[in-house]
Amino acid sequence: MGTVVIVGGTQGLGRELAQSYADDGREVVVTGRDQSRADAAASEIGGSTRGLGFDLAEPHTIAGALAGVEDVDHLVLAAIERDVNKIREYEIDAALRLVTMKLVGYTEVIHALLPQMRDDSSILIYGGLARDRPYPGSTTVTTVNGGVTSLVRTLVVELAPIRVNAIHNGIVGDSPQWKDMAPERHKALVDRTPIGRLVTMEESMGAARFLLENQAINGINLNVDGGWMCT
Ligand SMILES: NC(=O)c1ccc[n+]([C@@H]2O[C@H](COP(=O)([O-])OP(=O)(O)OC[C@H]3O[C@@H](n4cnc5c(N)ncnc54)[C@H](OP(=O)(O)O)[C@@H]3O)[C@@H](O)[C@H]2O)c1
Repeated sequence: MGTVVIVGGTQGLGRELAQSYADDGREVVVTGRDQSRADAAASEIGGSTRGLGFDLAEPHTIAGALAGVEDVDHLVLAAIERDVNKIREYEIDAALRLVTMKLVGYTEVIHALLPQMRDDSSILIYGGLARDRPYPGSTTVTTVNGGVTSLVRTLVVELAPIRVNAIHNGIVGDSPQWKDMAPERHKALVDRTPIGRLVTMEESMGAARFLLENQAINGINLNVDGGWMCT
């Protein structure tokens, strides 16, 4: 079995997935923006995990940073820099970073690692349900998540037989980003979620592993939201 590469694996959902593969004895690479933070995360995850630092918003640096990564079984693209960016106060630089990292940076990671992938390797891209449930300031996030949906379709065709899927989480209640949210916001989200609670990191991780590992699953954009999109 080859390496599991998790871009954006130093924290949050990517790190939860890295931990589960490391606990299974797999070779794991976790990446973030900073080499020392990536090294620290890799050491905390343990097993055969190593860290790499590069900035997805600087796509010309990506291939060099990934040059030592070999024999990739699963490639996961989970990194995000959140951008609350309202059109009336539009911040061009923040928008450029997010659009570049999620669409060009993710694609360049795939380009750089493709020679290290086999026919039965798989790719998983993280979008999110801001794609379908926008809020004031979500324009860049909403549009790049829509881009992720389209990216899956074109990559499935171009990279066949390598499988490519995306996971679109609702709010993951115990993720670092949301675990301290205001109680009234939490209640409003739970009231609208048919399972009566928010999805957990562990549940999201299980869905991610299904998409990566089931050899029949290809071209899927999977909502993981406890039924939130039905209400
Ligand atoms: N959490 C949720 O409830 C939720 C809901 C819907 C969708 N999602 C999606 O799920 C994915 C993971 O979300 P999360 O909440 O787990 O994220 P997170 O906790 O904020 O972690 C973000 C990760 O991305 C890395 N990163 C950030 N900017 C980067 C850059 N420019 N270049 C390279 N790496 C970068 C960070 O590494 P360093 O900090 O070490 O640099 C970190 O590992 C994202 O794509 C997000 O949109 C999450």
